[in-house]
Parts: sequence; C-alpha cells; structure tokens
Amino acid sequence: MLNSFFDINDLSKSQLEAIIYNKVPKKNLKDKQIGCLYEKPSTRTRLSFAVGINQLLGSVIDIKFEELNFSREESFEDTFRAMGCYLDGLIFRTSSHEKLLLGHKYMNKPIINALSDKSHPCQILSDLITLYENFKTLEIEISWFGDFNNVLFSLVQAVNLLDSIKLNIFSHISYIKKTKWIFGNNINIYDELDKTAISRSNCIMTDVFISMNDQTDKEKINLLKKFQVNNNIMQEAQEDCIFMHCLPAKIGLEVTKDVIESSQSVVWKQAANRLPAQMRLMKCINW
Ligand code: CP
Ligand code: NVA
Repeated sequence: MLNSFFDINDLSKSQLEAIIYNKVPKKNLKDKQIGCLYEKPSTRTRLSFAVGINQLLGSVIDIKFEELNFSREESFEDTFRAMGCYLDGLIFRTSSHEKLLLGHKYMNKPIINALSDKSHPCQILSDLITLYENFKTLEIEISWFGDFNNVLFSLVQAVNLLDSIKLNIFSHISYIKKTKWIFGNNINIYDELDKTAISRSNCIMTDVFISMNDQTDKEKINLLKKFQVNNNIMQEAQEDCIFMHCLPAKIGLEVTKDVIESSQSVVWKQAANRLPAQMRLMKCINW
C-alpha cells in the first residue's frame, strides 16, 4: 500500500505491473472524503478522478483554490493542516512539485499528484494501460518528440522501472535535461531526427512544447518545430505504429491535424483510460 503518490518511482516494479495488468487489491473508498484541489486548469484529470472516486463509493470534495484563505494570507502550512482535520486524502494539481511534499507533511494524509511542474505520473499509468491494451505486450519501442517535460519525466521513470520498453527521445539540444534525470540503458537521446530509430518505433508520442507551468517562449517553439509529429514521421515508423498525446494538444505545433485525427491516433483511448488507471491507483493507497 502507498502512503502517497507523487511519482512513478513511488511504485515498485510489481506495484506498477499490478496497475497495468489490473491485479490491484479489491478495495473501495466507502466513507472516505477525498479533496480535489486544482491550482491549474484540468479537464480529463479532474473529471476522471471525480468519477473514479464516486464509482469507488467515496465522496468528492471539490476545493476551489481561489476560495481558500490564501487570499487572506493564511499560510500554505495551516491550509494543509486544516484540510487534514476533515479529509482522508487529496488529489492535487500544482505549479510546484515541492508543494506536494510539503502539503503531505502538514496534512498528514495521502496526496496524489494530479500533475506538477516536474511530473505527471497518473497520465503515464493510463498510457501504459493503453499501450498494453493495444500491443498485448510492453516489449515495444516508443519515440518521444519535443519538450523534456513533466509527462516525459514520468515516462522515463516508467521505462527505467519496467525495462521491457525502449525509448528514443528527440529534442533540440538546448532543451535536453542533463541533470536530475536518470536515463537507463533502454533510453537513447537524439538532437536530430534519426530515421533508423524512427523506423523501429511502435509508438510515436508527443506533448505541448510549452507546458502549463512554463512561460510562453517563442524561441523554444521555433527550435522544437522540427520535432513536430507529421505524416512524414508516422510513415517512417513501424506499420503498427500508434500516435499518443496526453491532450490538450496545440494542433499545428507539436502535431498535425491529419496525424491526431488519423486511425493510428489513440488519444481518446488514452483519455478514457485515465478512469481505470486512477481507480486502480486509488485501490493501492492507504487512505
Ligand atoms: N492529460 C491531462 O492531464 O489532461 P487535463 O489537463 O485535461 O487534466
Ligand atoms: N505537459 C503538459 C501536460 C498537460 C496534461 C502540461 O504540463 O501542460
């Protein structure tokens, strides 16, 4: 059982596999009061957690960030101490990963990371389920195009843990993160498009060039443009190659409309799988 879920690395390999293969403990959230706090916008995560908590017989307490006493200068610490008096746990989307850790310290109840500036582990749980549903195996090769962002960070942690997936990362040299990221033997990084690596890919994945916790940066968008996923890239990949994007997308930037709307695109399966992924995760939490 988990006391919180901040990152994929909070799971052991067998816990991660239990979520992917639906071998989690039988458990519900009856009589549990789960707060849902979003410091940043969300559609899929917000709705899939709310529906999942309801389906597990728990209660969703929707907390509006702007209605808390922050505006009257109540501290972050006291806000989380107060939440800990009433709630059994919290789903929290935040601008700063540190707030997840600090929030847990003061609330002293389980917190699930619903996206931070550093990681988006719930998205990757859902994506692994989608990949396994599609290929019936995770002996696959994924190519990621674009930014070194929170979704990629969680994907890298999952690839390191599972060791059956090979991952190629294509990005501009200026945005390749060299510190604090651990790259296992299954991960290769390219600052130019590499036809051989692309031709082995069973999955092409991308995400927005500018994430919600980043400042708009025209230079970055320009430099990442050559890593746009378009039909030329999809045609070079394996015949069974699928396209993945966590959504929302900036169509015309990181991906073209014809790719995201194509029969190879599984973006709506990814969105739908947020629900079973999070329900399985919540059954592994020690509420
Ligand atoms: N993919 C994802 O987390 O979507 P939302 O921002 O809509 O929650
Ligand atoms: N990398 C994106 C993911 C959105 C779900 C962001 O942080 O905005």
